[in-house]
Amino acid sequence: MFKVVAPMAGITNASFLNNVIPLGFNVATLGGYSLDESTIKASRKIINRGRKEFDFPLDVIFTHIQNEVELIKSVHPNVKVSANVRSITPQPIIDLNNIEKLDIIEINCHCRQKEILDIGCGQNMLKRDDLSDFISNIVDNVNCEVSVKIRANVDGIDTLEIAHMIEDCGVDYLHIDAMKKGFNHADWELLEKVCNDVDINIIGNNSVNSSSNLEKMIGTGVDGFSIARSVISGNLDFNISHF
Ligand SMILES: Cc1cc2nc3c(=O)[nH]c(=O)nc-3n(C[C@H](O)[C@H](O)[C@H](O)COP(=O)(O)O)c2cc1C
Repeated sequence: MFKVVAPMAGITNASFLNNVIPLGFNVATLGGYSLDESTIKASRKIINRGRKEFDFPLDVIFTHIQNEVELIKSVHPNVKVSANVRSITPQPIIDLNNIEKLDIIEINCHCRQKEILDIGCGQNMLKRDDLSDFISNIVDNVNCEVSVKIRANVDGIDTLEIAHMIEDCGVDYLHIDAMKKGFNHADWELLEKVCNDVDINIIGNNSVNSSSNLEKMIGTGVDGFSIARSVISGNLDFNISHF
C-alpha cells in the first residue's frame, strides 16, 4: 500500500516531510513547485495576496529540489520521494530527470488558484487538447516514475475518461483528489469506478482524517492513499501503519 504525504505548497519541504514520515508514510511529496517563468510569476501573485507558496527563481529551483531530495534520502533512504510540479510546457518537468534519487515526478493537474488557472495550468490542464501529448512527452523522456495528480468532479470534465487517457500515456500513478462538491468526504463511489476500470496505481486523496474515512478510502480498491491537511500539525490522531 502506498502511503503518501500529499503536496502542500509552502508547507511540504524536506524538514516538514522528515518530521511526518515516521507516522507511517512510505512516499513523501515535495512541493508544489513552479518550474517556468509563467508559473513562478503566478506563484508570486498568490504570495502577494497572502497565501503560502514556495518561491524559488528559475536559476535556483532545480538545485533546491536536489538538496531537498538529498535531505530526505539521508534520513529516510527507503522512502520514495516525489516532486509535485507545475509548468505550462513539458520541458522543465523533463529536466527534473537530472535530479538524483528523485523517485517520482508528479505533474500537477490539480491546483485551482486563480492565478494558476489563468495561465491554463493546474486543474485547467485537464481542459488542454494537448494534455495527452504533454504527459506522454514527459513519460517518454524521463527515467523516474511519473504520477499525475488530478482533481475529480471538475465541471465539464469526465473524471473516468481523463483517468483512461492518463493511463494510456503510460504513467505509473494516478493521484486523485476525489473532492465531492457539497460533501466533507471523498467521492468514494467515483474512486471505486476508477479503480475497477483503470489498471495503473491509483492513489486516493481527500479527507483521510480518521480511521473510518481511511477504511472507506481503502475499501474503494485504491493502491494507496495520500493525506495533506491532517498532517499539518505533525501528528495524526489515527494510525496508518497497519495498512
Ligand atoms: C495549504 C495547501 C496547499 C496545497 N498545495 C498543493 C499543491 O501545491 N499541489 C497539489 O497538487 N495539491 C496541493 N494541495 C492539495 C492537497 O495535496 C490535497 O489534495 C487536498 O488538501 C485534499 O487532501 P486532504 O483532505 O488530505 O487535505 C494543497 C492543500 C493545502 C491544504
